[in-house]
Amino acid sequence: MKVYQNPIQHEKRWDQLVGPLVPKDGKDRLFLDLGCNAGFYMVKAEELGYRAFGVEREQGFIDQAPKGLNITKGDINTYRVYKSERGSTFRRKTGERIVLNETPAAYITLLANVLYHQTDAQVESILRHLMYSSAYLLIMGRHKGSNVTSRPDRDHLGRILDRKVWKIENETSTKKFYAVLAKNYSVEEWSVAELYRQAVTYSIENGGHRDFFEPFADFVRRVITDDDKPDDKTVYWQYLRSRKFRYRHGLCFWYRHMVEEAIANGGILTALDCLDGRVLDGHHRLVIAKELGIKRLIVRQRQEK
Ligand SMILES: C[S@@+](CC[C@H](N)C(=O)[O-])C[C@H]1O[C@@H](n2cnc3c(N)ncnc32)[C@H](O)[C@@H]1O
Repeated sequence: MKVYQNPIQHEKRWDQLVGPLVPKDGKDRLFLDLGCNAGFYMVKAEELGYRAFGVEREQGFIDQAPKGLNITKGDINTYRVYKSERGSTFRRKTGERIVLNETPAAYITLLANVLYHQTDAQVESILRHLMYSSAYLLIMGRHKGSNVTSRPDRDHLGRILDRKVWKIENETSTKKFYAVLAKNYSVEEWSVAELYRQAVTYSIENGGHRDFFEPFADFVRRVITDDDKPDDKTVYWQYLRSRKFRYRHGLCFWYRHMVEEAIANGGILTALDCLDGRVLDGHHRLVIAKELGIKRLIVRQRQEK
C-alpha cells in the first residue's frame, strides 16, 4: 500500500500549514492525530515534546510508520480502537483486546485531510465528540474546487464549528490548502496534582469517599506491577466491603480493565467532568493518571444546575 504523500510534500505542509499553528510547548500534553496515515505529523509533534497518539483505519499505512509511534488501528467515527498486538503483559497473558470506546482527551487534535472521507453526519458527530475532549482542534483541508477532496472547505468548516464552543484562533493557507486552529471554550487543562489535591480535600470536607484514594491507588499499583494477588486480599476490596458495595468482583474486573487500557494506550484517558475544579465524574481516572505519572488532564467544565 502506497503511503498517502511523499516526505517532501509532508515536510512542506508541516512548514507552511500545520506546524505554525501547533502550540509549541508540548511537554506533558497529548497530541491526537485522527487519520494519521504513517504518522508523519506525529513525529513532528513529538519533536515539540508532545505525547502523540494516532488513529488510522488502514493497517497497511500503520505498518509504514516509524517504529515506536503510538498508532492504533481504528475508525475515528466510532473510537472503537482495538489494540490486539502491542504491549502489555495483560494482553500477552489473556489475549484480550483493549477497546477504547470513548474519545481520548487530548490537548490538541489534528484532522488533516481526513474529513472529506466522512459523510456530513459523520463530520458533525466527530466534531461533537471532540468538543468534550480536546482543548484545541486543528483541521486541515482543501480549498473549494471541483475536486471531491475539498469538503468541508474553509467556509463550510466555519459554519459547522459550534461558535459557542470553538473560537478560531489562527489560520494558514496555501494555494491549495487551508488549516484552521480552533480553541475550545468548554474544556480546560488542569494539573493532575492540583485536581487530586482538590478531590481529596473536597471529599474530606463533605464526608464523601475519603477512604477511597489510597486503597484504589494501591489497586492501580498492583495492576501496573502485574501483582497476581487475588482481589479479595487487597485493601481496595476491604474498602469496597466497608462501603457495602455489592458486586465487588465485577467492580474490580471493570477497574482493572480501565487501568490496563490506560497502560496499553500509553496513558490515554477520557476527559474528567468537573465543576469549579471539583471532580464530578472521574475519581478513578484521576488516581490512574497520578499513578501512571500523567501530569495534566483535560476536564470538561459543567454548569451548576
Ligand atoms: C488523505 S490521508 C491524510 C493523512 C494525513 N492526515 C495527512 O494529512 O498526511 C487520509 C487518511 O485518513 C485515513 N482515514 C480515512 N477515514 C478514516 C476513518 N474513518 N478512521 C480512521 N482513519 C481514516 C485514511 O486511511 C488515510 O490514511
